Amino acid sequence: MCGIVGAVGCRQLRSYLIDGLKTLEYRGYDSSGLAFSHEEAPLIYRIPGRVHLLEEMVPLSLEAGIGIGHTRWATHGAPTETNAHPHISHSGLFTLVHNGVIDNYRALHQMLSDLGYQFNTETDTEVIANLIEHNYKQMGDVLKALRQSMKMLEGSYALVIIHQGDDERLFFAKNHSPLLIGHGPDANFLASDYLPMLKHVKDFYALTDHQFGYISKDEVAVFDLPGNSKAKISYHQTDLTSEDINLEGYPHYMLKEIEEADNVIRHLIDNYHDGRNYLFNPKLLDTITASDQLIFLACGTSYHACLIGKRYLEALGKRVDVYIASEWAYYPVITGKNPLFIIVSQSGETADLIHCVKNIKQYKFPLLTITNTKGSTLDREANFTLLLFAGIEIAVASTKAYVAQVTLLALLAAALKGDSQLIPDLYHVIEALKKVIDMKSKFEKIADFLATKENAFYLGRGFDYDVSLEASLKLKEITYIHSEGLPGGELKHGPIALIDKDTPVIIFVSDSLTALPIRSNLQEVLARGAHVIVISSQSLAKGKDAIVVPDVPVHLSVLPKVMVAQYLAYYTALKRGANIDKPRNLAKSVTVE
Ligand code: M6R
Repeated sequence: MCGIVGAVGCRQLRSYLIDGLKTLEYRGYDSSGLAFSHEEAPLIYRIPGRVHLLEEMVPLSLEAGIGIGHTRWATHGAPTETNAHPHISHSGLFTLVHNGVIDNYRALHQMLSDLGYQFNTETDTEVIANLIEHNYKQMGDVLKALRQSMKMLEGSYALVIIHQGDDERLFFAKNHSPLLIGHGPDANFLASDYLPMLKHVKDFYALTDHQFGYISKDEVAVFDLPGNSKAKISYHQTDLTSEDINLEGYPHYMLKEIEEADNVIRHLIDNYHDGRNYLFNPKLLDTITASDQLIFLACGTSYHACLIGKRYLEALGKRVDVYIASEWAYYPVITGKNPLFIIVSQSGETADLIHCVKNIKQYKFPLLTITNTKGSTLDREANFTLLLFAGIEIAVASTKAYVAQVTLLALLAAALKGDSQLIPDLYHVIEALKKVIDMKSKFEKIADFLATKENAFYLGRGFDYDVSLEASLKLKEITYIHSEGLPGGELKHGPIALIDKDTPVIIFVSDSLTALPIRSNLQEVLARGAHVIVISSQSLAKGKDAIVVPDVPVHLSVLPKVMVAQYLAYYTALKRGANIDKPRNLAKSVTVE
């Protein structure tokens, strides 16, 4: 994970780097650091904490031609000041920031130690700095040294590098971890994504793997590693604006993003239905129809959305399997002769999925990526892409992206089936979501109770089981309350042993088919002293249910239900004083395995 920035020629360098790092904190926020070019040695500021604390250390009057910055999600070494980036090579010739993981760092560390290089940190990054310095000392040229180092490095990296004494050029290299160039008339920029650069430039170039080079005030030079040839680059623009990252009066991004759900559904309808017909690529629909196995791969919340997608596509008679990407990456199972892989990822940069793509490419099977991030690695690697059009999601806990994923999978299934009823049904869901938003005071009251607990259970059957898994993930990641999502019928096979006096058990009731057995499960936990909170659909509601949401078709019931769960997690975290948008130990885009 980690976020990196760099710039040459920027008049507001200090604020570009600091404000830029703040927008990248979703990528990690264990520690942060900056380096500015300076005569004898770069000026370096590092802190085992968030960027706003780092900001206080850097003089307002600081001026420099070149600067780099980093916000860290620790992989190798604890989040201490020593391990915080930027890291400096043994003789101080190179100062760099890194996003990624070097797989062969032990071997390189040994090799460089044997050559007399000293290491001061526990990071894999220091190995890169020393390796580049070593190669530079052999070759006398930074680009040649970079190229040689890239040949020796195994793993993922986005690097931004200051070469001591070169006041004009800022060097970079990329493999697997994302890195973009922002090109302006009198300054050039580098960053892990668009956000830091939006205020400064309109033209962007997304570096591809094995590219390296430098930016200066008025030049961008990109080289491809194989052949060492100068790459032809063409700039593109982005639909994102700095307004997209405004809180617009909300106290947290998570709350803002929960309440954007209705718009997300509207955008998807507009993009995939023209009022008469669905607008999916016919080749994609043919590929799905012709495949004998659909294999979903995803992680976290996106995985939970795939479970819903499985139900939608199985209802059309397709054979569908869903795997957690980090498992399938090492234990791939393919039973069909003609499978289609479907990767679902909000960020489009998740390392576990990128690993899976390598397997898929090896077998030469087609790949559909469903992502919120146009131009991301997983978008670029796919044969087909479906965009989620959810707008940028900043809170680490995914909310509107899940709504978008489920909605898009419903639209895709309806297009395959030729079912036009889905569109009015989705408008109905939009109305239901507005009613859920009006219930906020109820959620706050329940959160008062949940906030005092250390364990919670979510139960459901069918679609309600799928939503229980997502509800439970939301609660644990932002409130740090241990929770589990379970199929109602599975409880008595073991987990019921955990139910005690006042244990919160949140039960979803959306399907008439299983309303009776799930209510029996309710009685079972009630009899053991549990504090039951029922979230039901109107037509299945009973007097004591805590939250009753408007009816929508069962296959879409996860949309209002998940919104309730997101609110409950949000308000519970608020009452516990947790850092809602940036929960501990997590990062938004998980770019390491
Ligand atoms: O960007 P992706 O959808 O590939 O990310 C997958 C998970 O890392 C992500 O959903 C994670 O579980 C979120 N923190 C959930 O809120």
